[in-house]
Amino acid sequence: MKVTMLGCGYVGLVSGACFAEFGASVTCFDIDKTKVDTLLDGKIPIYEPGLEALVQKNVEQGRLSFTNKLDDCISESDLVFVAVGTPTRRGDGHADLSYVYQAVQDISPYLNGYTVIVDKSTVPVGTARNVKRLIAETNPAADFDVASNPEFLREGAAITDFMRPDRVVIGVENERAENVLRELYRPINLIDVPILSTDLESAELIKYASNAFLATKISFINEMSVLCEAVGADVHAVSKGMGMDGRIGRKFLHPGPGYGGSCFPKDTKALVRIAQEHGASSRIVETVIEVNEAQKARMIKKIRNALGGNENGKTIAVLGLTFKPETDDMRDAPSLAILPKLIENGCRIHAHDLQGMDEAKILLPSEVQYYDDLYYALEGVDAVVLMTEWNMYRNLDMKLIKEKLKQPVFIDLRNVYEPHTMKSLGFDYHCIGR
Ligand SMILES: NC(=O)c1ccc[n+]([C@@H]2O[C@H](COP(=O)([O-])OP(=O)(O)OC[C@H]3O[C@@H](n4cnc5c(N)ncnc54)[C@H](O)[C@@H]3O)[C@@H](O)[C@H]2O)c1
Repeated sequence: MKVTMLGCGYVGLVSGACFAEFGASVTCFDIDKTKVDTLLDGKIPIYEPGLEALVQKNVEQGRLSFTNKLDDCISESDLVFVAVGTPTRRGDGHADLSYVYQAVQDISPYLNGYTVIVDKSTVPVGTARNVKRLIAETNPAADFDVASNPEFLREGAAITDFMRPDRVVIGVENERAENVLRELYRPINLIDVPILSTDLESAELIKYASNAFLATKISFINEMSVLCEAVGADVHAVSKGMGMDGRIGRKFLHPGPGYGGSCFPKDTKALVRIAQEHGASSRIVETVIEVNEAQKARMIKKIRNALGGNENGKTIAVLGLTFKPETDDMRDAPSLAILPKLIENGCRIHAHDLQGMDEAKILLPSEVQYYDDLYYALEGVDAVVLMTEWNMYRNLDMKLIKEKLKQPVFIDLRNVYEPHTMKSLGFDYHCIGR
């Protein structure tokens, strides 16, 4: 099958490479010429484990290519996937669909023969129908169907998630489009991955409802961590005890500095907007967003308290800046909310991250000092803050750290270490809900 992927970002590039791995002939298109040139040069513009090798293999075997010219690929395609960004629109929390509609408008004139146009981007309910209308207006002669095929991959584990998902959701209007998508996904259906086919609106909503539910679990356990601190309970024991109940499940019940990343923050906000526009209530999700903001604010207080009640004039070393490990993605990372507030109040920051520092330099205040060597970042600081649980930070040389610090204050916002071990090593150790 011939596939065009519009957008070479975290989703487009991974999806394109994986479809090629399944045997399809895939062309990835992006309006960002630098990105396409980087890919044509054999380099990968993002950090995602395993992606470089997968892209290289499929390019070499002639199933994957990159272009910034639409006339190279659309007319030949059986399927055109829209995998462009849908960030939060400035001011109102709604998903910004301008990239989606622009992409669709751009491809319309080139459609030739029956083509299925598939929304892979996370888009509000009704978008697929708008896409259909837009194509019909731009190219009345086009023979096409629209479909919704939301993506559930997690950055850092994107290839495995794409190749072995819990399910594939396809929203379609008829069997013709469904059959084309089922054929494309046949290799993973053969390994017993269920394919759920629904109407367009349900598929669009499944994505938002799933992300909002996962964000709810995180905000729930973060709120429980506050209660644990108040009553002297251990949030790890609480989370473990809850997670053993098959009806609840243990995933997404780990407390932290608040959820971030390119999906949960924007998708929860967009779901609230969708509900408002349709006169429906979304009180749970609204509260989830509030609890998440409060959690980030609580982390600032936690750091301040650990520094003796005032961060002014103090220096902290921050380990990890990205919203989670194994990605270079800084979008809505908790560090972006927490660190500027500390800097505003006179705190100096030494920062270390394995993949996020280039992007952080653009997004964080210019006062932040960056270190390639983690142990240099710790030299003479008043406290360490473990912000993102990269594997490298899970086995730190505590003896060396203690020697480097001005005072042995360790603030663990990911609960990586055991409180009693850290205390026995002589640290003034702070964590979440324990
Ligand atoms: N990142 C994730 O983990 C993830 C997971 C599931 C779903 N999603 C959803 O997938 C979509 C894409 O997310 P992402 O993280 O890959 O975004 P991204 O910002 O990494 O990539 C989007 C790409 O689209 C390109 N683009 C913009 N307009 C274009 C156009 N008209 N034609 C072609 N390319 C265009 C941009 O240049 C960019 O390279 C979003 O809707 C997101 O919510 C993301």
